[in-house]
Formats: sequence, structure tokens, C-alpha cells
Amino acid sequence: MPLPDKPAKRLFLSPPHMGGAERTFVDEAFTSNYIAPLGPQVDAFEQEFAQVCGLPHCLALSSGTAAMHLALRLLGIQPGDLVLASTLTFIGSVTPVTFLDGRLLFVDSDRKTWNMDPDLLAQAIEDCLKKGLRPKAVIPTDLYGQCADYDRLSAICEPQGIALVIDAAESVGAFYRGRFAGDAGQAAIYSFNGNKIITTGGGGLLASRDKGLIEQARNLSQQARDPAPHYEHTRIGYNYRMSNILAGIGRGQLQVLADRVDRRREIFAYYKNALADCPGISFMPEAGYGRSNRWLSVLLINPAAFGADRETVRLALEAYNIESRPLWKPMHLQPVFKDCAKVGGAVSEALFEQGLCLPSGTAMTAQELDQVVDIVRGCGG
Ligand SMILES: Cc1ncc(COP(=O)(O)O)c(C=O)c1O
Repeated sequence: MPLPDKPAKRLFLSPPHMGGAERTFVDEAFTSNYIAPLGPQVDAFEQEFAQVCGLPHCLALSSGTAAMHLALRLLGIQPGDLVLASTLTFIGSVTPVTFLDGRLLFVDSDRKTWNMDPDLLAQAIEDCLKKGLRPKAVIPTDLYGQCADYDRLSAICEPQGIALVIDAAESVGAFYRGRFAGDAGQAAIYSFNGNKIITTGGGGLLASRDKGLIEQARNLSQQARDPAPHYEHTRIGYNYRMSNILAGIGRGQLQVLADRVDRRREIFAYYKNALADCPGISFMPEAGYGRSNRWLSVLLINPAAFGADRETVRLALEAYNIESRPLWKPMHLQPVFKDCAKVGGAVSEALFEQGLCLPSGTAMTAQELDQVVDIVRGCGG
């Protein structure tokens, strides 16, 4: 099939998709003149998100990274403390460990889920304990919208008193054994960055079953102000709250979350079916324990079998003004983390080498999907 001309309009990987009610809530924020961090939209967003995720205590923040920073600080990460984290992730998952001068040990993925390998984690913790080192926390990432194996990870961490903080930045709307993404361990963080399945333009949220933890986080996120009519401070905090206007966008987005998940899953299924007969192409597996939100449709390209590598495909899409992206470059390969320890690494390295994220925006048309498929197919030998 002949390929179409390069369109002037760029097809982005995962652009925002408003539902309609966002403007009503933003208008309410304007009418009430709460043009501020904090306000009724923030309160309502926290309550509505708590209802959706099932975690009773929620704190809306300026980013997912801020949420992770607060969680780790409140779980007592001190300079020199060891934190184990998924290597196949976005850097915002782990920079908060370095903000606190903690030490990172990266754990490889398993082939079945692409998430943190529980066997490797167990082995790494055992090795640390033998050396007299007790890890303080574990951060598994729910990669591309698929939950990590929470029960197995909890069974490893809990008996040792090691905190588990779920990085559910990418998995809003996904489920693990009937529980909403993030419902495990001590706390979960979510992101509403512009590229996520629902967005506030920029924002995040910390959620937990531990009321005290969220109360403390709330205080730290507002410059750790002590109760006094003037400004009194006995510890150092941050300016991490979400703005009232952005929370209005979040409320509208929450109303369409279920639709967005269905559509992302449809897009994934479409690509998978349309490329099923291409040798050397396979897709991110879905674990039997859950329902991914398929935030991004991710495929693997075996160049020997397909006849082109993932970079050739990415550039071919780019030539038609279509954005696609390699998988996250594993943290243990990042120059900034060159001195950090790791366990395993070969699985995430192979995924990075062969993986490509395809455009997955929920407002994509059937024609745009066909175009992506035609270009990918056209690269094959
Ligand atoms: C896995 C993961 N962790 C953390 C973050 C950080 O979230 P934010 O960009 O809201 O700080 C993101 C995304 O942006 C992410 O994909």
C-alpha cells in the first residue's frame, strides 16, 4: 500500500485528551477566585480520587516525583540508606532517593511482566542482609500501565520490615487482582503529567491507608508550617501542593478514566492484531493477575526476523511526523547512576534494545492507527 504524504500535524505519543467537564471545574475555580495552590477543587479531587483508587487518604501534589520524595522522607530514608528500585523506569521514580542522599540498588525486570523480578529482589535482599545491610525501601514501577506483582513483592518485603512504595505513575486505572493500581505496601504515587492516561497538565498524588503518613506529607508539602497564626517552622518542608485550577482539570479527567482505559486497551489490541503476521514483532505481555491500562502500546522488534531494527522503524515513523519512542533506558545504564549497584540487567537491556512505544493517544483516529501500522509494516523485510 502506498504511504501517505508527511502530514503537517504531528501525531504525538500520548497527548492530553480532555473529556469536557474539565472546563466546568476550572470555571468554578475562577468564579470562586481560588487561583491558588489549595482550594475546594483540590479537596474534591483528593476525595474523588480516593473513591476511585480505594486508598482512603490522598494528597494532591505538584508532581509524581514530589509524591515519591515525600513518601521516602516520611518512611525515614536517611543519608546512606539503601533503596532497591526497578531499573526499567523513568528517572522521576528514583531521583527522590538521591534528594535524600540514599543509595540506589537497581533490580532487573522479569520477562513475563517486564516489571521488577520478585526472585531477583528476594535474592538481592538476602545478599544485603548477609552483608549486614538492611534495605530501607523498595520501589517497584508499574511499567507502561501494568501493575508489578504486588503480593509477591509484599511477601518479600513485609517480613523484613522493608517499606514498599508503589510507583503507579503510569498505571492509573489499572488493576491488580481486583485492587486499583498502587493498593499495596505503605504508599503509592501517581502522576498526572501531560503524557499520562489522565492529566492535570502537571501534577501527582500520594495515597496511603496510613492516615498519619498523609497528614505528615500534607504538612511537609506546605513548607512544614506549624499550627500558629504567624509562620512558625520547626522542620524543613517543600512547596509541593497542586494548584486549585489544575485540580479542576483532574476532576474532569477522573470522570473519563474508565473510558480512557478501554480505549487504550482497544488501541493496543488493534496494533497487536494488525501486526500479528509480521515475523519478529511481539507485544508487551499482560500478566494474568491484573488488567493493564495499556498506557502505551509497546512492541519488541527482533531485527533479524523482522528485517529492520527499532531505530529504523522509529525514524520511518518520524519521517511521517509520527512520534514513537524507545523504552525507558534502564537506570543502571544511565551515566548519572554509573556508580550504583544492580542485580541482573540483561532483561531490561534487551527490552531497551528492541522495544518501541507506539502512538497511543485515546483521541487517535482509525486512519491514524492504520497509518502507523502501514509504516511499521513497510519497514519489514
Ligand atoms: C514511572 C514513573 N515514575 C515517576 C514519574 C514522575 O512523575 P512526574 O512527571 O509527575 O513527576 C513518571 C512520569 O512522569 C513515571 O513514568
